[in-house]
Amino acid sequence: MIVAPSILASDFSNLSDEIIRMDISGADWIHLDVMDGHFVPNLTFGPPVIAAIRQYTDKPFDVHLMIDDPLRYLPEFRKAGADIISFHLEASGDPRKTIDAIRKSGAKPAVAIKPATPAEAVFPYLDGLFMVLVMTVEPGFGGQKFMADMMPKVRALKEKRPDLLVEVDGGINAETARTAALAGVDVCVAGTAVFGAQDAAKAIRGLKDADGEL
Ligand code: DX5
Ligand code: ZN
Repeated sequence: MIVAPSILASDFSNLSDEIIRMDISGADWIHLDVMDGHFVPNLTFGPPVIAAIRQYTDKPFDVHLMIDDPLRYLPEFRKAGADIISFHLEASGDPRKTIDAIRKSGAKPAVAIKPATPAEAVFPYLDGLFMVLVMTVEPGFGGQKFMADMMPKVRALKEKRPDLLVEVDGGINAETARTAALAGVDVCVAGTAVFGAQDAAKAIRGLKDADGEL
């Protein structure tokens, strides 16, 4: 299991230390939740903050864009240091154009889907994708409950294209990561479960082991 701690649950007054802490605690990727107050009813941060923390780790930056018109802002996120860029299929704009633009920028393209969006909606785009992000909560806030009924979507995607990475995001802890692993998930995003833990390294290890001896 690839583990991507979401800094949404970190101490924003001390971001550089938080990134370093994740780096040494065994995080595989760093997950960055970008919210615009339009696509989701919450606001977080944008390219300047991502650029500022880029120097504190060499781990891939997994940028989750919860914004309208993602195509318009892509170059700035890439320039800030995004390695993997997920945009929502439900956002405005032509998904194919956005996927092509991400690939041309040198980043790896991913499409994210909200709980109400079926897996089949992504099927036409699978060939060009590095990953699909299946939301296991309504996007916008950390600390929500994992929706286990999203697992059939994971299975459908893995069946359609076994080599495609499938990431889940929302309500992930050691127990729900196990459920995700059983469905075939490759990447777990975790905010509260990692940043809220006494021992982040132990929490990350617990998530990484979720697919042990399946
Ligand atoms: C929700 C974000 C998630 C969130 C996960 O919109 O995309 O990445 O930070 O937080 P937890 O792990 O607390 O559910
Ligand atoms: Zn996210």
